Amino acid sequence: MPEFDSVPSVVDALGARGYIADTRLATTVYLVTQLDKPMLIEGPAGVGKTELAKALAKITGRRLLRLQCYEGQDETKALYEWDYGKQLLYTQILREKIGQVVADAPDLRDAVERIGAQESVFFSERFLASRPLLEAVRSPEPVVLLIDEVDRADEALEAVLLETLAEFQVSVPEVGTFVAEKPPYVVLTSNNTRDLSAALKRRCLHLFLDYPTAERELEIVRSKRTGLPDALAAQLVDIVRGLRELELRKAPSISETIDWARTLAVLGVSELTAGILSDTASVVVKYDKDVRKTISALPRLVDPNAKVPEAGSERGHGHGHGPGEHDHGEHSHTSNGRPERDAEEVDGRAVRAGKDAPGRHGPGYYRTKDSSQADTEPGPPRRVTADRGARSFGANLGRRRAL
Ligand SMILES: Nc1ncnc2c1ncn2[C@@H]1O[C@H](COP(=O)(O)OP(=O)(O)O)[C@@H](O)[C@H]1O
Ligand SMILES: [Mg+2]
Repeated sequence: MPEFDSVPSVVDALGARGYIADTRLATTVYLVTQLDKPMLIEGPAGVGKTELAKALAKITGRRLLRLQCYEGQDETKALYEWDYGKQLLYTQILREKIGQVVADAPDLRDAVERIGAQESVFFSERFLASRPLLEAVRSPEPVVLLIDEVDRADEALEAVLLETLAEFQVSVPEVGTFVAEKPPYVVLTSNNTRDLSAALKRRCLHLFLDYPTAERELEIVRSKRTGLPDALAAQLVDIVRGLRELELRKAPSISETIDWARTLAVLGVSELTAGILSDTASVVVKYDKDVRKTISALPRLVDPNAKVPEAGSERGHGHGHGPGEHDHGEHSHTSNGRPERDAEEVDGRAVRAGKDAPGRHGPGYYRTKDSSQADTEPGPPRRVTADRGARSFGANLGRRRAL
């Protein structure tokens, strides 16, 4: 299994697997492999966060385990649950045997006691269904653990993640505590739809991944062998960067640039005109309003000297449009009226703006500079509903201890 001895060696290894990294990104990856610290990548959709975790698994020869986060997800989907179906199947098959155990019980209470004495048989490793966190801890071979889009998970689950990541161990009350022999490389990603807890950020090496520079984006597009000649690809990258400057509901990401390049190559385009770009714009912008804004901006983006009327009213919000100026995650230009919530809004500006009301969390949640208590305070108190953590019919056998 390759060990990396320097940042350039990481750049090279990633490059060989088709992932184009700059030194800032590669430095963080290098540190992940050296420090056994989780890495948190934040940034808009489609900038290569998930892909990086996959590439890390490839270059280290490790298996990739993925926990895809979503709203309402509970810890049984992240840690483990009891395999109810299997338990039931076994009790069916063993019906006769179980019958013998209770055959001469004088009353119901005694029968229940006898069954209870056998409980440990059914709450043993055999019936444990590992979910990604436990799987990562139990794996005999070290793995890469991808916790994808952690901002979609509820805060309660975030706290569970934090506990697990702190010690790379998972305790199952009925069975015992599992400790990772070799800690996994952990990659968490966030699309910034909400702020993550300070405790989680503190625990991780943090990387903000923005849209790449024109140079790197071109390199990525080229590496995908789209079939579009280099000169056109370079021009296309600039145009996409121009589109990112518009106030689009969903700005085009790297994958859209790649798709657009492929599309134009398939059409055998030899020159990028506003006409052909407009005809294919739906490859890069997916909302009707965005398409209209894009089409009206294209002539100017293709030829900055062209005399075309500005789509003035559709832009604005005091957002700077200087060349090379990009969002840096804080999105200070979010419109002041709260936009309607939309789960599809992948870059999450509106969602986050709506959720990030001051005081949404208790004091201390967003604590920023507190290192003295870093290890004793893993985060906010867990808010867990009564049914959360109920695990098949093991629910009453004992709640999972806090780790
Ligand atoms: N640095 C990169 N090198 C190569 N391909 C990249 C890079 N960044 C992004 N891509 C491409 O962009 C696509 C989208 O990336 P993805 O990881 O799914 O985005 P995210 O998880 O940030 O939303 C990937 O499938 C990949 O083809
Ligand atoms: Mg992703």
